[in-house]
Amino acid sequence: MSQQLIEAGLRPAWTASRIHWHITHPDSVVLIARAEAPAVSAFGAAASAAHAVDDRASADPALADRASAHPGSADPTAGSRDAAFVLGTVPAASGTRGNSTLAAPARCVAGFAIMRYSQDTAHLNLLAVDPGHRRKGLGRRLLEWLEETAATAGTFLVGLELRASNDGALAFYTRLGYRELGRVAGYYQGVEPAIRMSRDLRVSASPERDAGRAES
Ligand SMILES: CC(C)(COP(=O)(O)OP(=O)(O)OC[C@H]1O[C@@H](n2cnc3c(N)ncnc32)[C@H](O)[C@@H]1OP(=O)(O)O)[C@@H](O)C(=O)NCCC(=O)NCCS
Repeated sequence: MSQQLIEAGLRPAWTASRIHWHITHPDSVVLIARAEAPAVSAFGAAASAAHAVDDRASADPALADRASAHPGSADPTAGSRDAAFVLGTVPAASGTRGNSTLAAPARCVAGFAIMRYSQDTAHLNLLAVDPGHRRKGLGRRLLEWLEETAATAGTFLVGLELRASNDGALAFYTRLGYRELGRVAGYYQGVEPAIRMSRDLRVSASPERDAGRAES
């Protein structure tokens, strides 16, 4: 998915082993969204997603703080699903203990994102939504899930890069409160510059909307 939707025309840098590294690394979260029929199996999947978070949390107390305060893990029915999608982390143990909770067949994956957390900043490595599921708010949900996880741990600065030609993603991140810091020439294998963006999570993503609410 990453190679088709993000790295098109580039030498694939996000190999399976690199993604596996992020799945198993305690400072990274790999989040996926599955398209689900509403109500039928969504609860079970969401509950499993919470267990997946718990698996990771037990390996890393810092992540436990982040995960335990996230609505999707504290209460599997809250914040982790809606009528169409179920969000959950990929278990760190997947592939090693045969835990396939969220290892859905690729055709079921509607979107995914990878964020790496450090003490003061978080970095969005990848985010993509399947073309058939775009403009339904899924990209926003994925990103907000990861942002909330960062903020819960007291990490308020989120950074990212995107391809300079990616107007859709630029509009998306701008809509979600990210501001352009500058351009990095040749960032993508020397053939395309990157736009570097960041957001301080303490600043509202929609100041205009908040101002409207305050007035009403
Ligand atoms: C960028 C991307 C993740 C957005 O996902 P999405 O699920 O369609 O986004 P959302 O539905 O949550 O959009 C939220 C808001 O962002 C803005 N937005 C999203 N995509 C946009 C686009 N192509 N053009 C203009 N604005 C856009 C809109 O304001 C949208 O709200 P609206 O639909 O109510 O107008 C998706 O287009 C994608 O996967 N692109 C290919 C991969 C990629 O570019 N990844 C990011 C760089 S790593």
